[in-house]
Amino acid sequence: MRHEPLVLGIETSCDETGVALTRGFTLLQDRVASSVAEHARFGGIVPEVASRAHLEAIGPTVQATLAAVGVRLADVDAIAVTAGPGLVGSLAVGLATAKAYALALDKPLFGVNHVVGHALVDQLVHGPFDGPVLALIVSGGHSSLLVIDGPHVTQLGQTLDDAAGEAFDKVGRLLGLPYPGGPHIDALARSGNPAAIAFPRALMRPKDQATHAYDFSFSGLKTAAARWLEAAHDAGREVPVGDFAASFSGAVADVLTAKTIAAARELGLGCVVIGGGFSANTQLRDLAAERFGANGLDLRIPPVRFCTDNGAMIAAAGVHALVHGLAPSALDLGADSSLPPTVLVA
Ligand code: KG4
Ligand code: ZN
Repeated sequence: MRHEPLVLGIETSCDETGVALTRGFTLLQDRVASSVAEHARFGGIVPEVASRAHLEAIGPTVQATLAAVGVRLADVDAIAVTAGPGLVGSLAVGLATAKAYALALDKPLFGVNHVVGHALVDQLVHGPFDGPVLALIVSGGHSSLLVIDGPHVTQLGQTLDDAAGEAFDKVGRLLGLPYPGGPHIDALARSGNPAAIAFPRALMRPKDQATHAYDFSFSGLKTAAARWLEAAHDAGREVPVGDFAASFSGAVADVLTAKTIAAARELGLGCVVIGGGFSANTQLRDLAAERFGANGLDLRIPPVRFCTDNGAMIAAAGVHALVHGLAPSALDLGADSSLPPTVLVA
């Protein structure tokens, strides 16, 4: 058997310090140190707090990852690190660490794209992609529809305002739920009726097809949800939280799946990967399984632990870059907070 590269993946774009080690697309070890609890009382990520937490966690997390599988740093064949998008101070910690390892060990450095990594990680779970795939990446920071064809990534659409998870977190705050609100709304939605409240579906009209067929917009929905809560409050009505959460979640899942299916049909793609923290959402998963199955689409969603930010997705992106012969990054590579998904290796 061919010697598969041993790749160290480092992720520090937001509040998770993720480190993983893979042998080709086989995951050997994956560790995450999260600073989410330190941000909870602020109701959102505080960049400076996140950077400091990365700085404290990164060394020990790398050491623990290597020690758990008895690998020495010198055995690593390549280092993959998130170059962007993300919080610039957080990215800088991972990049500085990865560059130091690459320089000291004289091994190639791949500064990879975080958003694309959310899709590429699925190859560790369900095997290498067999041809082009349509990727729906949904998280607290991004909502993008991409085509990944070997080393080439094209973007069909993205959110024009809030990301799906971001809209959930903002509505969660209105409901008085702890941060991040997404998983709490998901839990409440399970006991509700998604048809109870008719929330708007944005950019779904025929006139949107020409310019925004594959773009998303969730801020109008968020405002509609806020108004609905206000009206209920003003009228002294008790909010049926289950129905409210189910109807709100249902509107998001409806738009995400409908647009993804339309894109797959238009481009003749048979395989869809869903990734990003929001892909943990129950209604999205259930609706995708139902609708994609009915449309003959092969659906790949990694388990939840690979959907939230982690080092495995970055190691997988590094392996993907190696497999497809992409050139490594230069050692003067900088963090790019808005790295476009079309750039797989910066
Ligand atoms: O990918 P991720 O860990 O971090 C970002 O890059 O943003 O995604 C976190 C986002 C948060 O907005 C969180 O509320 C949302 O994903 N999320 C969920 C669920 N689990 C996580 N939203 C809805 N339902 C869930 N089950
Ligand atoms: Zn992410």
